[in-house]
Amino acid sequence: MYEKLLCNSRSDVYPCHMPGHKRKMAGFPMESCYGIDITEIDGFDNLHCPQGILLDIMRRAERLFGAETYMLINGSTAGILSAVSATLRRGERILLARNSHKSAFHGVALSGGRAAYLYPQYLQDYGLCGAVSPQEVERKLSEYPQAKAILLTSPTYDGMVSDVAAIASLAHERGIPLIVDEAHGAHFMLDQRFPPSAVSLGADIVIHSIHKTLPALTQTALLHVQGKLVDRKRLQYFLSVYQTSSPSYILMAGIGQCISILEQRAAELCERFFQWNQTFERQMKTLACMRVFSTEADRYKGRGIFAHDTGKKIISAAGTAITGKELYDLLLSRYGLQMEMAGQDYVTAIMTIMDTQEGFDRLGGALAQIDRELRPATEWTGHLRTDKRNHGQSLDSRHIDHNDSAVWLRTGQPACEMDAALEQRWKSVLVEESPGKISAGFVHIYPPGIPLIVPGEIFTKEVVTTLLSYKKQGFMIEGMQDNNNKVCVIGEEKDA
Ligand SMILES: Cc1ncc(COP(=O)(O)O)c(C=O)c1O
Repeated sequence: MYEKLLCNSRSDVYPCHMPGHKRKMAGFPMESCYGIDITEIDGFDNLHCPQGILLDIMRRAERLFGAETYMLINGSTAGILSAVSATLRRGERILLARNSHKSAFHGVALSGGRAAYLYPQYLQDYGLCGAVSPQEVERKLSEYPQAKAILLTSPTYDGMVSDVAAIASLAHERGIPLIVDEAHGAHFMLDQRFPPSAVSLGADIVIHSIHKTLPALTQTALLHVQGKLVDRKRLQYFLSVYQTSSPSYILMAGIGQCISILEQRAAELCERFFQWNQTFERQMKTLACMRVFSTEADRYKGRGIFAHDTGKKIISAAGTAITGKELYDLLLSRYGLQMEMAGQDYVTAIMTIMDTQEGFDRLGGALAQIDRELRPATEWTGHLRTDKRNHGQSLDSRHIDHNDSAVWLRTGQPACEMDAALEQRWKSVLVEESPGKISAGFVHIYPPGIPLIVPGEIFTKEVVTTLLSYKKQGFMIEGMQDNNNKVCVIGEEKDA
């Protein structure tokens, strides 16, 4: 696709068509992007009814991933919305992991369906959500025997993997599809040392954000579907609803490029990843104060998780003199290492097959040095404060993690169904005045984008305390209004 786009940009064919820049951007910044940016012109196929070059990319992706595949250029978000809409009709029930990404909740709201929540296990030592157990799914299936689909997030943002095979069996015994949001696990099928992919374990729809862990451009993703439980016509219809009618050829060429890289170099890239990763893990095992989840994930197998993705480095500073935020700041200001996010007591680094030995070494070296300087239960030596003052690094609220059960389990109590709440009139109230009121909207911190409260849940005192503490710390909270002062609840505005 990229070659074809280059050829087109060098040809003598004059563009009497969109995009408006007409590929005449020489001398402007980003000129090379404009040169290959086109619309559905002759020979370039159409994402919404692929028959040529785009179909070819999808077929190659199918061979790699092992199931029928659709390209997504609106991220996994579009895939999740389409998957939920395709499997759930108005008034029907889906079993939904409560730690799902906001797009899953939006999918339920848009389809007019109803959710019954599956609660993941809790990893106390790390303050993290673990997996959703098959027992939890079984319990909810007996409670909601009419459920029409199940949606799980596996792996989670933190790399926690559920027992997808067992949960797929439970779903299939009842003749309903299992959707797995494997947005963070697109690399699983590349090597047996990663956890097995949900596609190979029998999930009916699997969604991959290839941009998260594979060499692909942001916004690119794939949806895979297999088996007989999902109506392909409905799925294709909803993909065309939720995806733009003007898909970017740069993004689609990027998907093609990613597939080519994997076809040609997956084994080699995985081999070097696991070699460098092994050295890193060995070094992490020698830390005296901090802990890295991937080095002890085996201890949690069967006690909260089924497996863990070694690419997600959860580095815990719990019990030391620094917080997760301070560790995040220190890694950036002193070592130039930008973490994916910080939690209360930990930071998360994402390492992929595209990382370099230098990247692993720098991270390992920095953590080893910080660890040496840390003494549990003693005061931090002061380096951190100095670094902070010198570099003025303040933590970007986008990178604070609020995906710990202690927070999200404090979600409001369900009062009515989400669809019923969304049909009511809404009004804004001060957060302080919200306890006891029913939420009309979603409130979440991004990342990870897991709603603290959804429409139909009551604002409890704990939720309000959490929101106020976020506000105090200056976080950008999505779903609040008036400078994070107000939330949406069910009711009539006084002056309405
Ligand atoms: C678990 C999970 N699912 C889905 C998504 C949405 O993915 P995308 O950004 O590709 O739309 C995210 C995004 O962070 C996520 O963390």
